[in-house]
Amino acid sequence: MAQPQPLSWQQELSEAAERWLVAIAATAELQALRQVEVESLGKKGEITGLTRRLATLPNEDKRAYGAAVGELKTRIEQAISTQRTTLEDLVITQELADTSFDVTLPPAPGRPGHVHPLSQVQADVERVFETMGFHVLDCPEVESEFDNFEALNIPGWHPAREMQDTFWLQAPEGQGRQLLRTHTSAGQVRAMHQFAPPFRAIFPGKVYRYEATDASHEHTFHQVEGLMIDRHVSVGHLLDSMRTLLSAILRRDVQVRLRPGYFPFVEPGFELDISCQVCAGAGCSVCKQSGWLELLPCGLVHPQVLRMGGLDPNEWQGWAFGLGLSRLVMMRFGVPDVRLLLSGDARFLGQF
Ligand code: PHE
Repeated sequence: MAQPQPLSWQQELSEAAERWLVAIAATAELQALRQVEVESLGKKGEITGLTRRLATLPNEDKRAYGAAVGELKTRIEQAISTQRTTLEDLVITQELADTSFDVTLPPAPGRPGHVHPLSQVQADVERVFETMGFHVLDCPEVESEFDNFEALNIPGWHPAREMQDTFWLQAPEGQGRQLLRTHTSAGQVRAMHQFAPPFRAIFPGKVYRYEATDASHEHTFHQVEGLMIDRHVSVGHLLDSMRTLLSAILRRDVQVRLRPGYFPFVEPGFELDISCQVCAGAGCSVCKQSGWLELLPCGLVHPQVLRMGGLDPNEWQGWAFGLGLSRLVMMRFGVPDVRLLLSGDARFLGQF
């Protein structure tokens, strides 16, 4: 019977590799892995011992043996490092599992923002007028006294100024007085200078007034101005445009009526009422039993305003309206207090 041969150094190294790689993979805790590291690669560890053995080998074996031991050491180092990452991840997962936090749950639903009700209705108004060939203009909120008042036939002494006091600004010397516009009508003469007649435009935006606030008054609110300049413009054009607009916005057929109204920049001037959307014209507390709601002032552009805009009133006429956008939003969504609209209250805004 053949004597068992002593292992060659090649066999010995491959056996050691096998053994340590299995031992490393078998560790279940960082502490145990550290122990394996000491026993294999530590100062008195087996692999370190194998490295030292180089000196005792015959010269012709030294180079091959050195390379093989080096390779073995690298494999073990890499295996330890990989296993360390695995065990560390395990520790983190374990810590998370110990808290009441479930990492496998889907994320909590976010609260995506949405379009403000004022902007929703404004976009609807813009869409309706765009289909009728109107430009949509963005006019400045800081206005000159001229554009806001004088160009509109409201000189400094005019009693109509009293109804629309506002926030005045300190303008640089020699620039005339500036203010936060009290109405979008301030854009009328600007538009006449911007476009050659005939033209149609609306200009929506914020306006400001010095108001005692209550459920139906706010110091900052939204209007949409409409202006059409053409030859032979009549009240009939105005009425039909208004009916088209309101039916589209309120999404039902509405009746409109005109009452005389005074504004220095229109002649004749009107208050346009719509049939009450709450009682369908039968009479209720919202419309004070009249069946009608006052919605927007309008009229034919005053010849003096046309002149201010550089137009000859004998050639050109126009109509204008000033729609209370805030009020329209309140009617569309049944908002009881105008102050809610700009309150920034998420409980209110979350409903739209
Ligand atoms: N600018 C006026 C206001 O805010 C409304 C208006 C606009 C009246 C256009 C007539 C024509 O009260």
